[in-house]
Amino acid sequence: MAGPAGGRPHAISRAGALGMVGVSPTSDAGWIRREAAIAGEGGTPYGVGLLAWALATAPEQLEAVLELRPTLASVSFGPYAEPVRRLRAAGILTATQVCSPADLEEAEAAADVDVVVVRGAEGGGHGRDAMGTLPLLQLVLDRTTRPVYAAGGILDHRGLAAVLAAGAAGAWVGTAFLGCVEAAGSAAAKATLFAAEQTGYGRVFDRAQAADWPPEFGGRAVANAFFDEWVGREDEIDDAARARFRAAVADGDFSVAHVYAGQGVAALTGETTAAEVVAGFARALDPPSAG
Ligand SMILES: Cc1cc2nc3c(=O)[nH]c(=O)nc-3n(C[C@H](O)[C@H](O)[C@H](O)COP(=O)(O)O)c2cc1C
Repeated sequence: MAGPAGGRPHAISRAGALGMVGVSPTSDAGWIRREAAIAGEGGTPYGVGLLAWALATAPEQLEAVLELRPTLASVSFGPYAEPVRRLRAAGILTATQVCSPADLEEAEAAADVDVVVVRGAEGGGHGRDAMGTLPLLQLVLDRTTRPVYAAGGILDHRGLAAVLAAGAAGAWVGTAFLGCVEAAGSAAAKATLFAAEQTGYGRVFDRAQAADWPPEFGGRAVANAFFDEWVGREDEIDDAARARFRAAVADGDFSVAHVYAGQGVAALTGETTAAEVVAGFARALDPPSAG
C-alpha cells in the first residue's frame, strides 16, 4: 500500500506472510531502493507494488524494481502488459489486480501474469467500483487457470478461510494492517481509522490532490465531511477547495484530509502488531476442532 506500507512490510514478511512496498506515483528510484533495503533486510522476502499508469512519467520506478528483483512485483491500474513482460523476463514473479471480468479478459490476452488478484469494490485505496469480492472471485476462478488471490474485505481468518474454500490460492490484504504499530500514519490518522464506521468511494481525494489517477480508478477512503461535500461533483473541486484540503493534510484535520481504507475499517478498534494480524490470519489453516 502506497503510504502506510513504506519500508515496514518486513514486519509482515517476518511473521510469515509477504509484505509489499507500495510505490506511490511520486516515489523516485532512490526511495524504492531505500525502502526495499529495509523491507528485504537479512534476506527477508518482500514484494513491490507499482501503479501502471504512473510508469509513463516515472519509468525509473520499473528500472529500480528490475534491479532489486523482489520476490513478487505487482503492476496494477493502467497499461501493465509491457512492465509485466519485462519483469517476467527478469525472472520476477508478477501479479496484477483485476476488478471486473473485462479486466480479467485483458489480463489473459495481454499479459502472461503469474498471479491474478481479484480486487473487489469493498477494498481500500484505489480500484474500480465494479463488483464485490465474492462474485468476482467465483467468476474469475471459472475463467482462468492461473493462481488467484482474493482482495477486498478480507479482515481475518474467517475471510481468508472463505476465499480459500472458494478456490483462491491466497488473500491480498490491505485494510486489516492499517491499525498496526508498524503502519505509517499519524496518531490522528489512526484514531480516525479506529473511530470509522463508513467508507466512501469516489474521486474526491484525487481531485483535491490534483492526482493523475485514471478516472475509472476511484478510491475508497474513510468518509468525512469533505468527501460528503464533494462526492458526485468532483469536477467542481476548485483551487479554494484544494487549498483547504492541503491545509487540512498539513494540520492532520481528518474531517477534510483523507485516510484510505476499505469497508472492513469498522473492524479496526485499536493498535495491534503486524505479527498479531498475520498470526490471526494463520488460524484459517488450523485443522477443524473436534466436536
Ligand atoms: C491505504 C491503502 C493504500 C493502497 N495503496 C495501493 C497501492 O499503492 N498499489 C496497489 O496496487 N494497491 C493499493 N491498495 C489496494 C490494495 O492493494 C488492495 O487491493 C486492498 O487493500 C484490498 O482490500 P482491503 O483493503 O479490504 O484489504 C491500497 C490500499 C490501501 C487501504
